[in-house]
Amino acid sequence: MIHARNFAGRVAHAELTALVDARKETVEESCRELGVKAGYQDYRQALADPRVHAVVVVVPTVLHKDIVIAAARAGKHVLCEKPMAMNPAECDEMIAACDKAGVKLQIGFMRRFDASFMAARGRIDAGEIGDVVLVKSLTHGPSVPQEWMYDIAASNGPLAEVNSHDIDTLRWFGGSEIVEVYAIGGNFRCPQARERYPDFYDSVAMVCRFADGRQGFIDGAAAVGYGYDARTEIVGTKGVMFVGRIEQDGVVACSTGAGIVRPFVPSWRNLFTEAYLGEDQAFVDCIRGGGEPKVRGWDGRMAVAVVNAGNRSIVERRPVTVETGEKSARERGAR
Ligand SMILES: NC(=O)c1ccc[n+]([C@@H]2O[C@H](COP(=O)([O-])OP(=O)(O)OC[C@H]3O[C@@H](n4cnc5c(N)ncnc54)[C@H](O)[C@@H]3O)[C@@H](O)[C@H]2O)c1
Repeated sequence: MIHARNFAGRVAHAELTALVDARKETVEESCRELGVKAGYQDYRQALADPRVHAVVVVVPTVLHKDIVIAAARAGKHVLCEKPMAMNPAECDEMIAACDKAGVKLQIGFMRRFDASFMAARGRIDAGEIGDVVLVKSLTHGPSVPQEWMYDIAASNGPLAEVNSHDIDTLRWFGGSEIVEVYAIGGNFRCPQARERYPDFYDSVAMVCRFADGRQGFIDGAAAVGYGYDARTEIVGTKGVMFVGRIEQDGVVACSTGAGIVRPFVPSWRNLFTEAYLGEDQAFVDCIRGGGEPKVRGWDGRMAVAVVNAGNRSIVERRPVTVETGEKSARERGAR
């Protein structure tokens, strides 16, 4: 609905034509809220609608592959939410289908459209902190995971759902591919999942080695309660840069008893509102302008490869090599 609300009025040169959800009530409520006439329960109906030129895929991750491939075959451009899919093989199939159909494939790493992250990247490119040595990124989510996430084999767990963004941030600021990871995980806050899902972790620490020797570190946590926390630190040969904020706004309250109170960012919805809009606008702009998306299938694929390696590392308690792949001819051509 974040994307839908953007496309319903805030994205230039786009018209929200149809909404799809398997749940009838969700379709009806969403269509009513946004004044959309075409609401479908089966995505194939939307793909058959000639007024639809592009789709945003925001269903649970296990469903991404089939829907993206079907959309490509129907000639629709695709913005697919992260994590792109469950494993690199699925991602390769999705990339191949979009390449074959000649449609755009953009992946939902919206931090690349966040003003602070973009400014940091620009200043690093300008040499302000010298060469990048280490990228540290953390994401802590406030809410208790939904039941489906407890089964790591079926969901890929918090590394996928929470930390995909950090993996992309490492690759983006590191400017190189992550080739090896060592991760440890543990369940510290979700006792209700311990017996049934012994592999579930709500906290993860992952060390990453880049192909060119640079270093990375990811700290992930679910069910932290206190708020949504997304921060990155980039250490260079001549300095350091910090990105991200934990205050919801500039309000500071001082009172007897409570002391100094500054509200924490409650959700990713609040922190990245403008980044989602920038992402949606960029998707439409690249369709209209004929360029390639800023975040591509390859970026999604490599993040998924790192997720899989991290989950294996947790189980096998050893460093794991990340599955490399080969960029498609199209991805090699226009970078
Ligand atoms: N970029 C981000 O910051 C961000 C934030 C949240 C979620 N996500 C990603 O978005 C995706 C969805 O996550 P969510 O939290 O919104 O999930 P969700 O379970 O809350 O919602 C998914 C929706 O898909 C519908 N659905 C399920 N199967 C369907 C089908 N076959 N056809 C049509 N609709 C179907 C459900 O009814 C539900 O309304 C995930 O891949 C998640 O990782 C990304």
